[in-house]
Amino acid sequence: MAAPAKPDRLSTQSVQAGLHTKRIGRILRLFEEVDSTNVVASDLAHRGAEHGTVVVAERQTAGKGRLGRFWFSPAAEGLYCSIVLRPESSASLANRLTWIPLLSAMATARAIEQTTSLSIHLKWPNDIMVHERKLGGLLCESGDRERGWSGGASQPQARDVSYVGYVIVGIGLNVNTPSESFPLDLRDVATSIAIATGRRVDRARLLTALFHEIELAIDSLPTVSDSQLVRSYSSLCATIGRRVRLQLHGNEPLLGRAEGIGPDGSLLVLPDGKQADVVQVRAGEVVHLR
Ligand code: BTN
Repeated sequence: MAAPAKPDRLSTQSVQAGLHTKRIGRILRLFEEVDSTNVVASDLAHRGAEHGTVVVAERQTAGKGRLGRFWFSPAAEGLYCSIVLRPESSASLANRLTWIPLLSAMATARAIEQTTSLSIHLKWPNDIMVHERKLGGLLCESGDRERGWSGGASQPQARDVSYVGYVIVGIGLNVNTPSESFPLDLRDVATSIAIATGRRVDRARLLTALFHEIELAIDSLPTVSDSQLVRSYSSLCATIGRRVRLQLHGNEPLLGRAEGIGPDGSLLVLPDGKQADVVQVRAGEVVHLR
């Protein structure tokens, strides 16, 4: 179904009207245009923004994707938001940093499923997929307690624990984007909720659901066990059991079969031609092979 020519607009009132969270989204900074909501949120966090502060923009001019890519962010068609989390508010949360991107992706999938008729799956680590096409993605960046964020923040790593002052969870979703809006190179690999369902979605409602689910997920982190996390993530993750090609930073691609998820959220891959010696992959780009 073609999207109406006049897109809707988000307002603080429309997002916060149905909000029942304790912290996430209670402080909401809504912008018409920013370079990247992750950059704005990191800057706010560096200047002391509270746990749960959210930055939302109608449009990004330099939206950041994983692995240094650009995130396509057309005005008022998608959701572009960044949430400030402060792991020091809980010692146990600080020890589970590597789960934050995966847990946030699960929460995002649940929010979409509650708001639409779609059945969402994840491509490891945190691509939001429907019918093998990408509907959204997450970019989580951590800021250094002493030095703050300097524009080069990285995915949360277990070794950063004692230094991490905040984590920015950046979420980008293609919501009411019609197919003709996507650049040609994305048309065969990306989709939106409107394309997948034939219906436009109330973005404020989806955002409210997203804040609820992220809060539930993050609040559960100190008490949930690694094996529970592995089980619930695995049930949503379409990568497990697939033949994959993994592009690892600066290395030759690794071909193999995705066997499962490790206790820290890493992907366990059995390289082609091996009977044992599973490799634990902590970062990289996965391609599902036929
Ligand atoms: C990916 O490559 O899959 C991650 C995309 C993350 C995009 C979102 S949009 C909101 C936030 N601000 C950014 O600049 N990036 C993230």
